[in-house]
Amino acid sequence: MILERLHNNEIINNMSLESKFVRDQLVQPIFIHEDEKNETTIPGLGKNKILFESNIIETISDDVKNGCRNFILFFVPKTKSNNQFITSFQENILSKIKKEFGSEIEIWVDLCLCSFTITGHCCLFEGEKINYADSLEIMSDIALSYVRGGADGIAPSSMLNGIVHSVRKKLDLHDFKHIPIMSYSTKFASNFYGPFRAAADSSPSFGDRTSYQLDCTDKENAIESSVRFSEEGADLLMVKPGLLSLDLIQPIIEKTKKPVGAYQVSGEYSSLVYLADNKLIDFDSGLLETWSTFKRAGAQYIISYGSRYAKKLGL
Ligand code: PBG
Repeated sequence: MILERLHNNEIINNMSLESKFVRDQLVQPIFIHEDEKNETTIPGLGKNKILFESNIIETISDDVKNGCRNFILFFVPKTKSNNQFITSFQENILSKIKKEFGSEIEIWVDLCLCSFTITGHCCLFEGEKINYADSLEIMSDIALSYVRGGADGIAPSSMLNGIVHSVRKKLDLHDFKHIPIMSYSTKFASNFYGPFRAAADSSPSFGDRTSYQLDCTDKENAIESSVRFSEEGADLLMVKPGLLSLDLIQPIIEKTKKPVGAYQVSGEYSSLVYLADNKLIDFDSGLLETWSTFKRAGAQYIISYGSRYAKKLGL
């Protein structure tokens, strides 16, 4: 089944190619806000913009024209809650996108609660403790609604134990056995998510994410985390922040025999933007150098805010 899910179409097939570096291995993140505002730039993320229902089709059309056809979406709803999550806005946009582009593109959807909750946390809390049962149930239902809307794949990023298993069970039960899961499987509690949190409106209102994200000094646990999510049923694994996790890619591949990708996170990408803005590096060749390094380290796919430039960079 895993093999079949990874050979659903040409794009996902390319994502798990070991030997070559091809453009489809680059995944472009897109932020979509329900609440339409004029201010759409994201500090630090260069030409990446916050999108709305009104300009999403146009942006993806441009990207497709430029040879980019693999996307991961981050939805930011208008109203936040700690117990009720309505996903009609997301479903509506997903079906609009799929109606327009069909199987021409691959749409992954990030599955998390941090942009939805009043707390800004990736899961639900009961007092100081994570409420696992409700978090898993609610996120699995949300995953199902994304797939019903037209998502081609689900990317659970909350790092909650059990989330991949729970989503897989839910999708299988509703005849979505063919939908792949890309697990954020080794994700550190990092300082490098700053620009993302501004774009996704997802900063925690109390504490930090160390109760569910990993400690960057603990190598063994970081590798084990990917092994666990692999055992839960993930099809694709991931390390994040990518550049800060290069040493983990090979050991994870060896232990799981699954494709491992690297997420070049917002803070890592912003470093290049700021250096280039200050005329300290050439942006294009600097970006390409980081991607080549991910490939050298064994990453099979890369999530990068510059994916839409891949063709321009010669890929
Ligand atoms: C949601 C999520 C985060 C990122 C991807 N999914 C933020 C976080 O964990 O705080 C970060 C991506 C980036 O910085 O580019 N949980």
